[in-house]
Amino acid sequence: MKKYLITGGAGFIGSNFIRYLFSTYPDIRIVNLDKLTYAGNLDNLKDFEHDSRYRFVHGDICDAGLVDSLMPDVNVVVNFAAESHVDRSIGSPDEFIKTDIFGCFVLLEAARKHGVDRFMQISTDEVYGSIENGRFSETDALMPSSPYSASKAGADRLVYSYYVTYKLPVVIPRSSNNFGPYQFPEKLISLFITNALDEKALPIYGDGRNVRDWLYVMDNCEALDLILNKGRDGEVYNVGAGNEKMNIDITTQILRDTGNSEALMTYVEDRKGHDRRYALDIGKITSLGWTPRHNFESALSETVAWYRDNRWWWEKLKSGEYLEYYQNHYKRKL
Ligand code: NAD
Ligand code: TYD
Repeated sequence: MKKYLITGGAGFIGSNFIRYLFSTYPDIRIVNLDKLTYAGNLDNLKDFEHDSRYRFVHGDICDAGLVDSLMPDVNVVVNFAAESHVDRSIGSPDEFIKTDIFGCFVLLEAARKHGVDRFMQISTDEVYGSIENGRFSETDALMPSSPYSASKAGADRLVYSYYVTYKLPVVIPRSSNNFGPYQFPEKLISLFITNALDEKALPIYGDGRNVRDWLYVMDNCEALDLILNKGRDGEVYNVGAGNEKMNIDITTQILRDTGNSEALMTYVEDRKGHDRRYALDIGKITSLGWTPRHNFESALSETVAWYRDNRWWWEKLKSGEYLEYYQNHYKRKL
């Protein structure tokens, strides 16, 4: 039986992945280790709270004693745990270095000591840096440009070194920007949808023409599962959907779907070191047998509908601690 240690499973992608695994493989066990930072939220997995196949452990991946105590009971490790927001990494990089690099090292050491069948490190397309034309393939050089992406690049290569040095059976997906339900309302799509539903300004950085390749989170979950099961040891897999969109185009659709006018579009100071464009060659994962199944425009409309129907989930996240952070860091822009 597969017994997973999923870290960061109460965040956006991790919680969607846990839900995906339980609905796809009823006979599995999952331990979810999460520190519950501002981005971790037990509401994301409320439906599994009393499920005997599921155990939540509140803790830090940097806690070697705790991680070591969990490892003997699992045979698959999936590390989602990270500080994940570029803007926060610009303001205070410390936690990114600790969690994204050191925390990953702690997990690797425990996995090496106890032995696991698979160790999947959730990396990101941001490790390549920005690309004006063309697409990055898995063998291209890493040129990360924010403290977030640099910390992810460090972990990505550290994981690879455990394959080369210790033969730990690792796989490393590099996914593009995800969107969908349960995304903390600070990233472009979740922030803009929730702001638009409240008829608040949508702060567009710079000229709004930066491009990201948007991937619906359920498509990403299917890709991650395939990589976990069929990926070759030590290999990197790009995961993108080919949905290259400028931020202003996404903004326009969100305004249309929420019934708002373009008056909410507010151009603000650009992000420092703002990557212009991300784009991935996905030939390798396509050969493994995956293609994204969701159309971008309809998945975005479904996502808008989810946030419209689930105010209970996000309204409280936009008050209290989050609001304080938001006001301190962004008041000059709004
Ligand atoms: P998220 O910020 O929503 O969730 C991160 C989770 O990690 C939270 O539940 C948080 O509490 C937990 N966490 C943070 N520090 C921890 C620690 N020290 N110990 C234990 N748990 C800790 O992030 P997300 O958007 O779901 O991203 C998940 C992973 O996927 C990250 O590794 C991120 O780099 C990667 N990724 C994200 C995207 C994207 O578009 N969101 C794209 C590619 C890769
Ligand atoms: P984000 O969702 O933070 O993802 P990432 O920077 O990791 O790709 O940002 C996506 C794009 O949207 C990026 O070009 C920055 C831009 N953006 C805004 O214009 N305004 C915002 O308030 C945010 C959060 C992002």
